[in-house]
Amino acid sequence: MTSTTFTQDELKAQVGRAALDYVMRGAIVGVGTGSTVNKFIDALAAVKSAIRGAVSSSLASTERLRELGIEVFDSNAVDEIAVYIDGADEIDPHGYMIKGGGAALTREKIIAAQSRRFVCIADASKQVQTLGAFPLPVEVIPMAARRIVREFARLGGTAQVREKDGEPLVTDNGQHIIDVRGLHIADPLAFEAEVNQWPGVVAVGVFARNRADICLLGTSQGVRTLRF
Ligand code: A5P
Repeated sequence: MTSTTFTQDELKAQVGRAALDYVMRGAIVGVGTGSTVNKFIDALAAVKSAIRGAVSSSLASTERLRELGIEVFDSNAVDEIAVYIDGADEIDPHGYMIKGGGAALTREKIIAAQSRRFVCIADASKQVQTLGAFPLPVEVIPMAARRIVREFARLGGTAQVREKDGEPLVTDNGQHIIDVRGLHIADPLAFEAEVNQWPGVVAVGVFARNRADICLLGTSQGVRTLRF
């Protein structure tokens, strides 16, 4: 197989286009958030007349979809979504992921849970053996942030409130994000279940219960399809 050098941006565009194969005619598509998903949204615009519309995981994706003339439905107006397309910050050999680099993890998890199939689109740099090198995003209710930071210290992690322009970043849900460094997440299902129980945690960026079913991985040899 021949190998070509692609930029990361080109790899993202490749997997964004490849994801169109999983979009069914007449369907409402679940759409994630991030730079890789933006490539998917651009590709989706070319087939917009063949779909009913989208459910979106962030205000940013909603705006982009609407600009391209794609109708965006409220998630409560849709019972089940056939396929959810989203990126990842890390993906392991079981399809478990870290997500939330773009701060949209809670809505992403809601739509992933509502979808029959999760197709992750990622360039090869996102593939890891064990989750944890990427700082783990956790959406928290602001009054609980300091206590949650201490809880992560107990697990060996170093957590910090994410800032934007010198102030805590405020998510689409009006909450804060903490990013946790220094974790080695050997059992993502158990870890997700544990952190989910801490008071004040809105969502943890480990996607284990709602892992990917398929990953379209952008590599220098072309798009690889991984099934989990
Ligand atoms: C957004 O909150 C994230 O979960 C993204 O899916 C993730 O950060 C990947 O983003 P990029 O495609 O920009 O790398």
